[in-house]
Amino acid sequence: MEKILNLISAQVCAAFEAAGYEASYGRVTVSNRPDLCEYQCNGALAAAKAYHKAPIQIANDVAALLGKSELFADVQAAMPGFLNLKLNPAWLADYLEQVRTAERFGVEPDPEAGTVVIDYGGPNVAKPLHIGHLRSAIIGESIKRIQRFFGSEAIGDIHLGDWGLQMGLIIAELRARQPELCYFDESFSGPYPAEAPFTISDLEEIYPAASAKSKVDEAYAAEAHDATYRLQQGQPGYRALWDHIMAVSVADLKKNYAKLGVSFESWLGESDAQPYIPPMLQKMTDMGILVESEGARVIEVQRPEDTKEVPPCIIMKRDGATLYATTDLATIWQRSQTWDPKKILYVVDKRQSLHFEQVFRAARKAELVGEGTQLRHIGFGTMNGKDGKPFKTRAGGVMRLETLIGEITDFVRAKVRENNLVSGEDVENVTAKIAMAALKYGDLMNAPTKDYIFDMDRFAAFEGNTGPYILYTIVRIKSILARYGAWEALPVRAPESREAKDLMLALTRLPDALELSYRDCAPNVICAYIYELAGFANKFYHETRILAEEDPEKQKGYIALIGLTKRVLEACIDLLGFEAPEKM
Ligand code: ARG
Repeated sequence: MEKILNLISAQVCAAFEAAGYEASYGRVTVSNRPDLCEYQCNGALAAAKAYHKAPIQIANDVAALLGKSELFADVQAAMPGFLNLKLNPAWLADYLEQVRTAERFGVEPDPEAGTVVIDYGGPNVAKPLHIGHLRSAIIGESIKRIQRFFGSEAIGDIHLGDWGLQMGLIIAELRARQPELCYFDESFSGPYPAEAPFTISDLEEIYPAASAKSKVDEAYAAEAHDATYRLQQGQPGYRALWDHIMAVSVADLKKNYAKLGVSFESWLGESDAQPYIPPMLQKMTDMGILVESEGARVIEVQRPEDTKEVPPCIIMKRDGATLYATTDLATIWQRSQTWDPKKILYVVDKRQSLHFEQVFRAARKAELVGEGTQLRHIGFGTMNGKDGKPFKTRAGGVMRLETLIGEITDFVRAKVRENNLVSGEDVENVTAKIAMAALKYGDLMNAPTKDYIFDMDRFAAFEGNTGPYILYTIVRIKSILARYGAWEALPVRAPESREAKDLMLALTRLPDALELSYRDCAPNVICAYIYELAGFANKFYHETRILAEEDPEKQKGYIALIGLTKRVLEACIDLLGFEAPEKM
């Protein structure tokens, strides 16, 4: 559907032209003086210079012509040469009726959308999820949904940290504790047991213990390195243990991401990219871009136009070991061969921005992706505690994601009980939905790059710019609709009050908010939009006797308007990754 601003601009442009001026002066914007008008055009001020005329004279010429347009109820030329426009309520209702009945509210998909791989999550196997992974999961999931809304085939790829020293540490520690296990018996000819010799809680204890030990005990560290090496060489017992570690961890990760309403289409990890490394190194060597630097092999990525230094991307260390960047490059190659994506988006901590800059440049140089593939790092800031420092547990440790979700859930449950919002078995369900809204909206309302302060009181408040406030607005509308009866087919009617018209105008701004959030990978734009929309919805609700209205036709119009508002709000929170309960 054509956006409302374009339709309005087209009319005003035509009027400029009909009055003898260049059409392009007729661009219209949403009014910055909503007390005076709904839309405005400042073109007469610019045209005045070109035509050597007083701006107000031009504005008057155009206003005279626009007065006859069916789009406007009121057109004023105001000193020194503004055009102040108010829409014709009947035309606005017609427009919104099209929005109401169109698929996806008439928002046009991106014809260039194509396949997009979104790299988010990035948890490390056998280490519990901590709040560092929270932002990636929340922002990544929302960006994926937004991409999909615009027609992309969006693939969420978890990119597990499942390779390297951490796996060797676990294996070395298992070996120290249970040397009798068949996995360490080189004469064992299999088959290995189907059951893992540990649980997820064992793993979560083993890894930090091994990691701590390796820092103080050199011999132990050497063993872990050796275990890593053997695993990477494919020693069968080690490989079988690795399979167990993966199975146990992945089951636990799936459970935890499910609690967050986050899911992935692809569960590939760093290990899956390893087979691509040798041919990739060969390709880089053949191209002559892999150069020697202090014994290491690097790709130079500095460009003449750079104003800052961009250090070379190190591909292989002196001892032959490959690095984080090597794996990311091989993964890019793997993704481009598997999916030939239009875009690869990385939702990763902004402190890794130099890493991605180097990796992207190296990937281009090595031609690992087609020129048409966009590589983009969406770096996010840190979630801080009220002291402004990275969020920690009370004891000062890293907070586990499960603990954080548990705390916010307890906090919300207490509020649900205290206010008697629901009873019986609804309590848990409603609590979970409000808690998710509080947590996710509290994060997503900030531009991804910004650091923010985690403040449970503020996030879980039912008033103010919060997730629960948005849910509350939706639930309130749902309850009116439920009491009214069948509402889905009722058409939008011309507004009669300021509040109704404001709400309708806010609804017409949906495509702009969604397009901006899509283009900039910025869910915060949707948050700002629904906060504004919810504000207008609540004003309308307060000023209008909806269920008590005696004129059935008027009442139908009210119901249609709040019904559309509810659908838009629900579609938006779905893009943010949470949902509203039936009651609260
Ligand atoms: N596993 C990494 C970490 O915990 C994050 C991976 C991010 N994604 C990537 N393609 N490098 O820091």
